[in-house]
Amino acid sequence: MVSIEVKKVRNLNVGDGLLAVAVFQKERYPKEAAPFLKELKKEQFEGKLGQAYFTSTLGKRNFKRLFVFGLGPEKECELDYFRRAAGAAVRHAVANRIPSLSIAAGESRRFRKDDIVQALAEGLALSSYQFTKLKSKKEDSFEIRKTSIISTTGPFQKGLRAGTILSSAQNYVRELDENPGNIMTPARIAEEAKKLAKKNRLGIKVFDEKQLKKMKMNGILAVGGGSVNRPMMVVLEYNKGKKHPLYAVVGKGITFDSGGISLKPSKKMEEMKYDKTGALVALGVIRAVSEFALPIRLVAVLPLAENLPSAAAQRPGDIIKIRNGKTVEVLNTDAEGRLVLADALAYVSEMKPSVMIDVATLTGAVIIALGKEAVGLFSDDTELAEALEHAGRHTHERVWRMPLWKEYSELMKGTFADIKNISETREAGSITAAAFLKEFVGEKIRWAHLDIAGVMNVERPHPYYGSGATGTGVRLITEALRRMSEKG
Ligand code: BES
Ligand code: ZN
Ligand code: ZN
Repeated sequence: MVSIEVKKVRNLNVGDGLLAVAVFQKERYPKEAAPFLKELKKEQFEGKLGQAYFTSTLGKRNFKRLFVFGLGPEKECELDYFRRAAGAAVRHAVANRIPSLSIAAGESRRFRKDDIVQALAEGLALSSYQFTKLKSKKEDSFEIRKTSIISTTGPFQKGLRAGTILSSAQNYVRELDENPGNIMTPARIAEEAKKLAKKNRLGIKVFDEKQLKKMKMNGILAVGGGSVNRPMMVVLEYNKGKKHPLYAVVGKGITFDSGGISLKPSKKMEEMKYDKTGALVALGVIRAVSEFALPIRLVAVLPLAENLPSAAAQRPGDIIKIRNGKTVEVLNTDAEGRLVLADALAYVSEMKPSVMIDVATLTGAVIIALGKEAVGLFSDDTELAEALEHAGRHTHERVWRMPLWKEYSELMKGTFADIKNISETREAGSITAAAFLKEFVGEKIRWAHLDIAGVMNVERPHPYYGSGATGTGVRLITEALRRMSEKG
């Protein structure tokens, strides 16, 4: 990963590579841009949001190239624009093969400087991430060696630290997520979880199939029944045995979702390697939370399975009994995420956490509803929902709340069993999925469900996610936990 430092400097005439400066529209430009002002004008650079200008300094400065990025009018500026500025600078440096990049932190009374530095650090780290591990020739890719966030007013280590912890955890999720189903099997994720547990001193339990049977986790077992890569469940715990309030994150971990006997169409089926994103996000969250040393207890629960058709696979019509005793008619084997989550939610509920958040690439329907811009949020607890909405505005992993009225639960009532795993209509598909999950949440437990199907990956150019897996949810949930832990 690219190294990022933050430095206090006397002026911006520093570095030996690219100097990037983000400016508001109509702002007076920094001194370093002075020799180029005429050209900036000629090029009609006004600092509109997303507008960029660059020039070689032709030996007139220490740095070799200047890159100016427009933030738009200051009063409309959002923190995320600094992530975008960093992303644009990284893209420029990579395209021009410049190995070192300095980015000026900029000044604004609207934001705390530590927050700006944090956003810049996140933008730098997230946009320089590439998945190259499985390519044997490395010459096509170019990596920036060193990036510095520079400021004339202070070093702002706190912002750098927060930005580094969060973006490293997120890139860790992206790296694991990018590995396809033949590599990142349930057993392999369990191995990765063990490595993390050792490094960050977390408690860990890995349940194999035999133990899951004893524990009556028939949802996980049924979904994983069709694959030679056998199902598992991983439970990690941070601050185990301490007195702090207990929080729980549960993540859907389908290492590949073919749909099972209710087979998916083959178009873009390869993207279903990302169906494990939720479980990986849970790993990323517990990693970040432990590195921040938040004063909470946290369990991360990862129900892991591969959903494949085979002679041993579950079939449409099968009836299974979930950990909490409720019976489910499996009318569609492609609605498998809710089955593994059902067991996991029931299991975690027994620990009586004060808050339980699940995160899952649960439905295509949430993409129809919200597109690729927002995470679907489902909760009966308005305070918890607002905490997540607030965190999402801060991290720009924006969430949008959907209703969870009891009428939706009616649609999930079973014919031959307590409930069915799909409703008869296609209406409100992401809500009926959430209504299904609700059946497995213990009474009086504050619970929220995040459907990240739309944001798990990017398909079009994004300001700071290059391509593929985004690891969305890590910063969102960690930020929400941080805020809740402060409130006590
Ligand atoms: N993993 C999918 C949901 C998904 C679809 C995530 C596209 C990301 C992109 C999930 O297991 C699924 O297949 N859901 C079905 C539910 C349906 C059978 C009720 C869906 O959304 O079509
Ligand atoms: Zn599915
Ligand atoms: Zn799925």
